Amino acid sequence: MKKVKKAIIPAAGLGTRFLPATKAMPKEMLPIVDKPTIEYIVEEAIASGIEDIIIVTGKGKRAIEDHFDRNFELEETLASKGKLDLLNKINQSSNVEIHYIRQKEPKGLGHAVWCARNFIGDEPFAVLLGDDIVRAEKPCTKQLIEQYEVTGSSVIGVQTVANNETHRYGIIDPFSSSERLYEVSNFVEKPKQGTAPSNLAIMGRYVLTPDIFEFLDLQETGAGGEIQLTDAIQKLNERQNVYAYDFEGKRYDVGEKLGFVKTMIELALENDEIKDDLSAYLVETVESLKVKS
Ligand code: UTP
Repeated sequence: MKKVKKAIIPAAGLGTRFLPATKAMPKEMLPIVDKPTIEYIVEEAIASGIEDIIIVTGKGKRAIEDHFDRNFELEETLASKGKLDLLNKINQSSNVEIHYIRQKEPKGLGHAVWCARNFIGDEPFAVLLGDDIVRAEKPCTKQLIEQYEVTGSSVIGVQTVANNETHRYGIIDPFSSSERLYEVSNFVEKPKQGTAPSNLAIMGRYVLTPDIFEFLDLQETGAGGEIQLTDAIQKLNERQNVYAYDFEGKRYDVGEKLGFVKTMIELALENDEIKDDLSAYLVETVESLKVKS
């Protein structure tokens, strides 16, 4: 069985939910405290044993390439001022190969993954979306890779969401399970409210066999007029088993405003530099809200 060594990080979406911030800045570069969201994703890939990453970029996404590039001037300035901790921070991702490919038009997630097909070749690979940050003892992608190594099949990361949220996600229709691993009869992209076959939602982490490209090659559009990865996964599942794995860990939804702000607060409360002042400020703010209401 071939090992999973490559990962695709699609980052070519328009990020409309964060306009106007994302008019000239990629949403993947929005920082959670002091680190761009995409760096959390790259760190998860590295911690999962991924050796080569390809980031799918598009118009207006140059800042992502600059971020993962060396900045010699900045490095020299930090070194000459003895700011070695900061120097270390800006070079965190240098122990992995990062490649880039452009998606000329944002035609959907399935199309973004398809754009990386030549880089992937005939190997199994991981896909990590920047909309979800997962913090877990064992990195989420590593959990999926381990399941791939057991099953030899594609494995999709899922977690339970509330009934009123299923329409926002790809949802699975499971028919059997052992522990956290499910066999699936259907993968449905954004089912209409009240029609979801379960509450298990696809959370932006995938390990796929290269057979998926056969279905992405068809370039068929689905929900929202976009080429959907979930539709290709469903077709693959009709040919060979695609499993879903209810991964362990806390997932932060940073692809929408409220989730982003909550994540920012939670992670800031772990940051030694600011946590005390921030928690005092939050207590004060809550107290003043109580007085007003
Ligand atoms: P989203 O639909 O959540 O991202 O796609 P978006 O389109 O950027 O955001 P909104 O909805 O307009 O606010 C999930 C992931 O897939 C990528 C996005 O960059 C994001 O990481 N994506 C989506 C692409 O790379 N290309 C696409 O055509 C669509």
